[in-house]
Amino acid sequence: MKIAISTGGGDCPGLNAVIRGVVRSAIYQYGWEVIGIRDGLDGLVHGWDPIPLGLDQVKGILSRGGTIIGTTNKGNPFCYELEENGRKVVRDLSARVVENFRKTGADALVMVGGDGTLGIGKRLMELGIPCVFVPKTIDCDVAATDTTFGYHTAVHIVTEALDRLHTTAESHRRAMVVEVMGRYAGWIALEAGIAGSADVILLPEIPYDLDAVFHKLETRKKLGRNFSVVVVAEGALPKEGSRVVAVSAEQNAGVERLGGVGAMVAHQIEQGLGIETRTVVLGHVQRGGTPTHTDRILGSRFGVGAVELIRRKEFGKMVALRGQQIVSVPVKDAINHLRLVDPDGQLVATAEALGICCGR
Ligand code: F6P
Repeated sequence: MKIAISTGGGDCPGLNAVIRGVVRSAIYQYGWEVIGIRDGLDGLVHGWDPIPLGLDQVKGILSRGGTIIGTTNKGNPFCYELEENGRKVVRDLSARVVENFRKTGADALVMVGGDGTLGIGKRLMELGIPCVFVPKTIDCDVAATDTTFGYHTAVHIVTEALDRLHTTAESHRRAMVVEVMGRYAGWIALEAGIAGSADVILLPEIPYDLDAVFHKLETRKKLGRNFSVVVVAEGALPKEGSRVVAVSAEQNAGVERLGGVGAMVAHQIEQGLGIETRTVVLGHVQRGGTPTHTDRILGSRFGVGAVELIRRKEFGKMVALRGQQIVSVPVKDAINHLRLVDPDGQLVATAEALGICCGR
């Protein structure tokens, strides 16, 4: 038996733990051969020269960030962008991917990825590649699993950054606006904001009212707290009709695209309240470097679980964490909808009970 593994989409701390988990459990338990597909599915778009993955290749990778087999988030074979005669064109190269997969001689493919990759994998299954799936994202927004590896590390990094930003904010009596990742989900902002003692947390799930933010910062000032830490999820948006201070219509429209919202909020605080403000965009620091022990363990459990799915021939299934258990769920349950923060849920209620303004 020979199995292949690919890692798709943005990299994520714990990916190497998954690869190691697949390789070690496949070899130690069943004596199978394992190969890695290069750079997501790009390795199959461009050829079929896989990376042999034995015990030596996964030695020492548990603590390493990134993925030793590479990844890309531009490689959807069903609408692959390439250049022909100097022009950009989009082609369906899925048949080539299926053909190249057959050439590798692998019997099954472990696809590790987020929402997008899982959807691509489901379509490849329909074309005849036997796949099992492992959910991956720092955003923690994949449905059908309680959490994903990489998320714990991201929250840890943001929390540490908030601790550091507190001391500089306090010394200079500034408002620090910290933009964090999460795409359409506010999990990183909310959990790190609570752990890092933020004063304001703005989430995509709760369109923010600038008056509520101003009220919070002014109340702090009256209490003699002359600094504030504001965490803004990159997907946060202002509430319709919310006050906008000294920002042009064009700038406001720009908030709709991901990114830049931290700078926008900082600008509004500075103009509206006259508080000196700085913006910090944590960016890819949140997903680089060594994974926490939690993500190493979850990644390892998912890797071992994926091998079990193949052994049981449960193709089309994804490993998931439910409570303390690794379970298998149909991959279709995990795609096409995201797991988002519930504005009326316990976590937001906890933040608000602690006096944190969640933008409303
Ligand atoms: O989905 C993970 C993520 O890190 C998001 O939080 C972020 O919006 C996006 O990927 C960044 O993507 P890229 O690495 O392509 O800039």
